[in-house]
Amino acid sequence: MNVHAPALAKAHTFDEATSVFADDVIENLAQHPKRLSPKYFYDAAGSELFEQITVLPEYYPTRTELGILRGRGNEIADIIPQSAALVEFGAGATTKVRLLLERCDFGAYVPVDISGDFLNAQADALRKDFPGLDVYPVAADFTAPFALPEDITGMAKVGFFPGSTLGNFEPHEARAFLRSAREILGASAQMIIGVDLEKNERVLYDAYNDSAGVTARFNLNVLVRINRELGGNFDLSAFMHRSVYNRDRHRIEMHLISKKSQTVRILGRNFSFRPGESIHTESSYKYSLERFTALACDSGWKVRESWTDQDRMFSVHALAAAD
Ligand code: AVJ
Repeated sequence: MNVHAPALAKAHTFDEATSVFADDVIENLAQHPKRLSPKYFYDAAGSELFEQITVLPEYYPTRTELGILRGRGNEIADIIPQSAALVEFGAGATTKVRLLLERCDFGAYVPVDISGDFLNAQADALRKDFPGLDVYPVAADFTAPFALPEDITGMAKVGFFPGSTLGNFEPHEARAFLRSAREILGASAQMIIGVDLEKNERVLYDAYNDSAGVTARFNLNVLVRINRELGGNFDLSAFMHRSVYNRDRHRIEMHLISKKSQTVRILGRNFSFRPGESIHTESSYKYSLERFTALACDSGWKVRESWTDQDRMFSVHALAAAD
């Protein structure tokens, strides 16, 4: 009998999101090499671990991007239309968007995120702190097409995609995302986007192999999540975290390495691991300013302005829809 993963997942009484997660995990662990999508890192525990990562001494991206947004906030404000709607793709902590809302005159804020509960809590906090701002949260997977709320129909649109989340996409996915963002935001749209830069490999390595081991826990947490939500039986002590810089592909790769020969059972399926076999859990692409500009131009945007910190660790770009 040919049993497909979707049928397997449906046989359990999963909600829609968990059933998509189940199908995806089963399909991707059956691949060679095995892999898991980085979007599944961010359950409650994973989001908390990521917040801890952002303040690690080795993890430069968050503080560097915040520095650029603080230092260049007025320049950003200068090129943004008055009373535009700010649409944030993937809304985690509100620290970054607050910097923009404090410095620019936005008429509405539309955070788009897959996690609805978190989204509504953040929206309430922002409404309190910015009483004149209309906040319209949208619970959606921003990597797929979604509809903007009707309330902002007549307004100019500015996308916001900070944190180098773009780096998690394969280059063809990054192009597809930028094209779709341009479609969603419409003609005369603008976009503020944060992109991590290529740099000294030791600095990159250390940022994903922190001495406190938080990144390792963040990586392993996806196995905890599979165990809890899908009834998997991963033995956490039998896997270890590994991050390496892939120079040819300009990306940091995170892997979970099997320490021994073992078989893991998830939803009635067996997944065998050889000693040293990896699950590729994340790629974090690093761009040069030239390669990012080419990517944006290839995807329906032109680069109006690019800002970096003094050490050229991180970049923030203002894009405008090309005609
Ligand atoms: C949230 C995707 C930007 O790639 O640096 C942090 C996630 N992974 N440490 C990144 C992450 C390991 C992060 N992004």
